[in-house]
Amino acid sequence: MINSKLIQKNKKFFNKFAGSYDIKIFKKWQESIRKKIIKEVAVKRNSKILDTGCGTGELLKQLLLEKKNLKLYGIDVSDKMLEVAGRKLNNKANLKLSSVEKMDFKNNSFNYVFSEDAFHHYADYDLAMKNFYIILKIKGKLVVADVDFGFVLNKVFHFLEPGNNKMHSKKEFIELFKKYGFKKIRQKKINLIQVLTIGEK
Ligand SMILES: C[S@@+](CC[C@H](N)C(=O)[O-])C[C@H]1O[C@@H](n2cnc3c(N)ncnc32)[C@H](O)[C@@H]1O
Repeated sequence: MINSKLIQKNKKFFNKFAGSYDIKIFKKWQESIRKKIIKEVAVKRNSKILDTGCGTGELLKQLLLEKKNLKLYGIDVSDKMLEVAGRKLNNKANLKLSSVEKMDFKNNSFNYVFSEDAFHHYADYDLAMKNFYIILKIKGKLVVADVDFGFVLNKVFHFLEPGNNKMHSKKEFIELFKKYGFKKIRQKKINLIQVLTIGEK
C-alpha cells in the first residue's frame, strides 16, 4: 500500500515552499549541478524525457537550453511547485500533477527519466523504480541525482527535513538499480554532497 500520508506531507511542505524555492543565493550553484548532470548524460536529440519530482522546473528549463528538440514532461505532487514551473516553461513542457507511485504514461515511451533531489522524498521508492523501468524504452536511461551527506549527517537530515522518506547511500542506489533490472550502471559524485546514478533498461 502506498503511504499516502507521506505524499500529502510532501505536497503540503512543497506547496508552502514553492514561492521561495528558487532562492537566488543557491541558484548559480544549483545551475552548475544541473549542467554537470546534463553533460554527464549527453542527452540525444529528439528524445522524450520525464523529470519526476520536477518541482519548479529548473532541470526542464536547463534541458530546453540544450536546443535538441526534446519532448519534455514533468510530474510532481505539489500543485504550487508546478505552477511556478508552468510560468517559467511557458507551455514548452507537459506538466502533470502526479506521484511517481501512480503515473499515467504509456509503457516503453521515454528515452530518459530524471530524478533530481527528489528520490529521498518518494513515499514508495520500490514502486517508483518499477514504474521508471516500465515507462522507459529499451536502452532508455534512468538518471537519479540525490544528496548524500554521509552516514551520520544523512540520519540528521532525514530527521529534520519534512517529507524525507529515506536517504540512500551510494551502495543502496546501485543495489536498487540492479534489483529493478537496470544495466550498465554507473555512479559519480557530482560534488561533495550529490551523487549521480545512471542505469540503462
Ligand atoms: C527537493 S524538491 C526537488 C525539485 C527539483 N527536482 C529540483 O531539483 O529543484 C523535491 C520535489 O519532489 C516532489 N515529490 C515528493 N514526493 C513525490 C512523489 N511521491 N512523486 C512525485 N513528486 C514528489 C516534491 O513535491 C518536490 O517538488
